[in-house]
Amino acid sequence: MALPPVRLGVNIDHVATIRNARGGEHPDPVRAARQASEAGADGITAHLREDRRHITDGDIDRLMEEIDLPLNLEMATTPEMLDIALRHRPHACCLVPEKREERTTEGGLDVAAGHNHIAPYVRQLSDAGIRVSLFIEPDPVQIAVAEAMGAAVVELHTGAYCEAALRGDVDEAQHLLERLSLASTIAHDRGLEVHAGHGLTYDTVTPVAAIPELVELNIGHFLMGEAIFRGLREAVSTMCGLIADARS
Ligand code: PXP
Repeated sequence: MALPPVRLGVNIDHVATIRNARGGEHPDPVRAARQASEAGADGITAHLREDRRHITDGDIDRLMEEIDLPLNLEMATTPEMLDIALRHRPHACCLVPEKREERTTEGGLDVAAGHNHIAPYVRQLSDAGIRVSLFIEPDPVQIAVAEAMGAAVVELHTGAYCEAALRGDVDEAQHLLERLSLASTIAHDRGLEVHAGHGLTYDTVTPVAAIPELVELNIGHFLMGEAIFRGLREAVSTMCGLIADARS
């Protein structure tokens, strides 16, 4: 029996990375969002970082105005980002850890250790009608705290699984996949919506997309890299096809 579909959120940060390497307006991440939408994406994800290294405030303004798909705004738990989120009221906010020196979001948010700091963000964003997602490691303690905080969604970090698969460590990849699967069941049983993402490629997406409780995947870097060779529409529609096949 086919599983319910999994949504694909396309992360467009790295279109802005290329644009910002030269300044100016090209390539335009909003144009990329439009093409991703035409190719079958179900949502757009953008991370407004504190240092604005890729997505800018102006990009968020335009994504909210010009794109019909739901926007998932990734953000650090800072007062500045909270103000921006409350001003725009995107469909969802995914709270992520952020370090200035990191190249990408390296690990999940430690919601257990950071409970007192993070909980007010979850509450204020939720009260504003925004779906709050917590980007966490696939760990039962983190999931329990996420539920207790009142988050609607957990996004499970798939980076460790993808790295193990990429270096050909089959046993470790299988172990980490089972961890993701177990965490998805635990989160779902606690009433949380389950998303996943980070580092996913055409080679690693299928077993993750087959996890029954999964509702959404967020994928960026690989799709933008692949778009250089095949164009963004084809890169996205191939990913949509792989995800659909994994559910059938
Ligand atoms: N989900 C979250 C919370 C992220 O921070 C990122 C990276 O910005 C992604 C998904 C997408 O990861 P990738 O770009 O490796 O596909």
